[in-house]
Amino acid sequence: MKTFNVSDSIHQQAIPHSDQDVTENCQWQSGQQTPRTFCLINQKGGVGKSSSCFHLAGAYVSLGLRVLVIDTDPQGSISQGFFGSETVEQLPAEVTVAALFDDRWSFRDWNALIHETRFDGIHVCPANQRLAEFNTPCPEELGPIQYSLREFVEEQAGYDIVLIDCPPNLYRCTWTAMIAADWVIIPVTPEDFGTQGLRAVHQAVENAGVLNRNLRRLGHLVTRSDGRLLIHKYYEHRLRKLHGELVLDNFMPELSAFKVAVANRTPVQFHSPKSRAARLTRSLCREILDRTDVKTPRRRAA
Ligand SMILES: Nc1ncnc2c1ncn2[C@@H]1O[C@H](COP(=O)(O)OP(=O)(O)OP(=O)(O)O)[C@@H](O)[C@H]1O
Ligand SMILES: [Mg+2]
Repeated sequence: MKTFNVSDSIHQQAIPHSDQDVTENCQWQSGQQTPRTFCLINQKGGVGKSSSCFHLAGAYVSLGLRVLVIDTDPQGSISQGFFGSETVEQLPAEVTVAALFDDRWSFRDWNALIHETRFDGIHVCPANQRLAEFNTPCPEELGPIQYSLREFVEEQAGYDIVLIDCPPNLYRCTWTAMIAADWVIIPVTPEDFGTQGLRAVHQAVENAGVLNRNLRRLGHLVTRSDGRLLIHKYYEHRLRKLHGELVLDNFMPELSAFKVAVANRTPVQFHSPKSRAARLTRSLCREILDRTDVKTPRRRAA
């Protein structure tokens, strides 16, 4: 059977990053033996998990890093962001992340899950509704299949960064992502965030940490904030007061450039590289690397 390749179906040339980016990239450590793996989680919907993941992927590639995006959300938002909804909905389960959750598919060729995109350096393991049946509650009661995504990630030595986009709940897909990841990023909108909701997220990270000793909270990422709204300022202030260092300095404000770029299925870094949105995303991706102890050019020069 011919392996389905998403890139076959979109008939577009890969878009390379610019020469200027390549020059800048040389200063970054690429080609580590194992990738740095981040999962973006929050049980609250619409906080910008997929959007942040999508734009971060573009920003990392512009730094010369190779990125694998893994979609563990049955909604398949980020997959659709890269490939369009029609293509993604038609993908058979065996070429999507669902194959990793289904023990009938053990010992298969996992390369079939990795799809090229139009962007040099970004590959995607897509998801669609076929993943929904596996996203069950009480994931900690599952057997060794909990580790399947982790085992898959551990084999991906060709990437520098793995970004795992999770669904808006703390069920099996998010759990499995936390078992596979080194770092958790928690996107939070600065309004009505409810400490109770976040408490459940923190508890889930702690529980997953029992099985994955490498798992650490990188921090909360303030998303979709509107600096003109007092209420957003208030909630952001409160979040920073409550969680201190565990709130990233950089943030993803509500900007139309992010939306327009998604609508064009292109990370903002490539869609409008000079925009404020692209600049902020680059800053954020540097801070994330800094927080994982990767030396930045600024630090090295010091
Ligand atoms: N920083 C931003 N600026 C403008 N629009 C944004 C931003 N972040 C997210 N959005 C928009 O908000 C909506 C929800 O974003 P997104 O799908 O990324 O959230 P999510 O947390 O992944 O949602 P879900 O929980 O359903 O997976 C989308 O329409 C997206 O384009
Ligand atoms: Mg999403």
